[in-house]
Amino acid sequence: MSTQTQTIRRTTVPQIARRKGGEPIVSLTSYHAHTAAIVDRHADFILVGDSLGMVMHGMESTVGVSLDLMIMHGRAVVRGTKKALIVVDMPFGSYEQSPQQAFANAARLMAETGCAAVKLEGGVAMADTIAFLVARGVPVMAHVGLTPQSINTLGGYKVQGRGAAADRLLADARAVAEAGAFAVVLEKLPAALADQVTQQVPIPTIGIGASAGCDGQILVVDDMLGLFTAFRPKFVKRYASLGHQAEAAIEEYAAEVRERSFPGPEHVFADTTPAGGAQ
Ligand code: KIV
Repeated sequence: MSTQTQTIRRTTVPQIARRKGGEPIVSLTSYHAHTAAIVDRHADFILVGDSLGMVMHGMESTVGVSLDLMIMHGRAVVRGTKKALIVVDMPFGSYEQSPQQAFANAARLMAETGCAAVKLEGGVAMADTIAFLVARGVPVMAHVGLTPQSINTLGGYKVQGRGAAADRLLADARAVAEAGAFAVVLEKLPAALADQVTQQVPIPTIGIGASAGCDGQILVVDDMLGLFTAFRPKFVKRYASLGHQAEAAIEEYAAEVRERSFPGPEHVFADTTPAGGAQ
């Protein structure tokens, strides 16, 4: 261990784990430095989610997201932040084959981005992999319910765990907790089931389309800022309408360029240096 003083003090994995049943955990996704810097002032952890494939890169699903892409965005988010725990998603195909494959790729994510934890999708089927990673120093956040990387087997982004499927979902949540995950994302499941999971597992549950009774909540930052004007899942509350504001600003800019009212005199330079040397 180095004796060097650490200048960056971030929320740690054990601190998040200890919030079970306590003050709700606040989290959002972020994919680049500037939004991450804003989120950092308010959130306990930031997820560099593989939703970035759809949100930032226009992909149809998260299936095509690569490890290199996650590393690139993970680095940007770590650079832009000081305080929040940073969790980076393991993309489809980077962990399912074997615990060894998962470890090699999780180690790359951690070493190359500086994140402190990874997230992966799956319950009972991923329990051995989670235990393998945790035993080797990789903190894992699990993700059950709607797991978007399985879109091709699920056949759509439907609510999970209804009716007889509730028992399977409970088993998934228990399995990841027993395997050593420090928290579990519950995505798109009936609120009563999310509450049941929250009562039954000893680790924090982080809800998205789940229940206010979860130990914490997460949303995709672009969704809650209203950056998309066309698409809004039921579980997203829009706290702003930045997409409409951006559209109006860009429309105004385009009109001003066309009528030559931008740039104005205050945006251009004289051929003499003003007194005091300001440029
Ligand atoms: O990729 C993502 O953004 C996520 C959250 C929605 C939980 O997994």
